[in-house]
Amino acid sequence: MNVYDGLRIAAMLEHHGFTQTDNIADADIILLNTCAVRAKATDKVYSALGRIRRAKKPDAIYGIVGCVARESGSDAFRKIKDLNFVLGPQSYHKLPEILSDPDTKLLDINLGGLEKFDELPPITKSPYVAYIPVQEGCNHCCTYCIVPYTRGPEISRPFDDIIAETQHAADVGAIEICFLGQNVNGYKYTDKNGKTYRLSDIIQETAKISNINRIRFTSSYPTEMTDDLIELFGTEKKLLPFLNMPIQSGSDNILKKMNRQYSLAEYIKIIDKFKHVQPNIQISSDFIVGFPGESEQDFEQTMDVAKRIGYINSYSFKYSPRPHTAAAIMPDQIPENIKSERLIKLDALLNDRQREFNLSCIDKIFDCLYESPDKTGIKHIYRTPYMQPCIVTTDKPTPMAKIKITSANKSCLHGKIID
Ligand code: 5AD
Ligand code: SF4
Repeated sequence: MNVYDGLRIAAMLEHHGFTQTDNIADADIILLNTCAVRAKATDKVYSALGRIRRAKKPDAIYGIVGCVARESGSDAFRKIKDLNFVLGPQSYHKLPEILSDPDTKLLDINLGGLEKFDELPPITKSPYVAYIPVQEGCNHCCTYCIVPYTRGPEISRPFDDIIAETQHAADVGAIEICFLGQNVNGYKYTDKNGKTYRLSDIIQETAKISNINRIRFTSSYPTEMTDDLIELFGTEKKLLPFLNMPIQSGSDNILKKMNRQYSLAEYIKIIDKFKHVQPNIQISSDFIVGFPGESEQDFEQTMDVAKRIGYINSYSFKYSPRPHTAAAIMPDQIPENIKSERLIKLDALLNDRQREFNLSCIDKIFDCLYESPDKTGIKHIYRTPYMQPCIVTTDKPTPMAKIKITSANKSCLHGKIID
């Protein structure tokens, strides 16, 4: 979501005559697009602002946008006196207001909903992967999560707007579309004729666009997986057989304290439905270790489910207490050293599984999407349908290539283009 917001902000500033620079000392405007999901990301913002302040031209304007802006509000101006703007994730389209008058300060952390999508100029060229938000905000109240506070309640974008933006991304270069939302599969929009659209309708309409070869979406809430969406994994060839569906914990006791609205058994039932329609499907998850009250036994249940499901490409985090959340004031907070030990154990397991899956891909042939040259500049990186990076040697990288996998390790595949 932040990548998308960043591209829209860049397009907006280009529209106002700016060009991008990597050199802070050259810049007339500097902004940090920020994440507040864990304390570590938030803490980095203020040290980065200090560095920017020292390096920038004296008359350059600077500020923060995104979730830390929303979380800090006017406190940010108290902490850094000459900061020019603090704009929440749904107000960054207001940035031009300050461009003509750099002496004013701009604070807007309102949750305005969809206004930004309409007010911003469209992107002028797309990377091969285009991220398109279908909804923003979240109505789930997971007790650890700051997102319902920073991004507000769920709002689904009009179906026609999403398809128009998707078509536009395809027209300016996209080959893969990744639909985005904090609760992407909760997408639900009813138009003025009373017709209701779900994520499955968006995917089917997108699949009709001939330049688009691959479709995926993130991030899903398990109990909002409706049958229409699950069935598409068996019928829609452009939909990648790879799904991000965070479980967070394998313990029913902890899931309840997290206010996740499923049990382990219910979650596994949903995965079985996917496997039934698409036997090749692979699942990725997010995990939180060290949630308040997590016992050794609770943690072992998370390890067990990670083994049992055999996730790939997963993310694991130490629980981080956040303002405006219920879990931050729960008793039995877990000491940092125990969180760290658990994270190391879970990461080792997830890495082993990733290596095992990568090795199982040797000799298989995948349709892959070009990403970029590798660090040497001689070889090139493609992405498989399971988002594994795959390195090939070629003089003429094409946007899509059929690649036979020749070797693999934990972090990547190597292959040969056969078509
Ligand atoms: N502490 C640690 N991880 C968190 N996440 C969300 N809130 C927290 C928190 N307070 C993780 C969840 C979510 C991912 C985007 O970030 O695993 O799925
Ligand atoms: Fe946060 Fe996701 Fe839970 Fe919503 S569903 S509250 S975004 S973790």
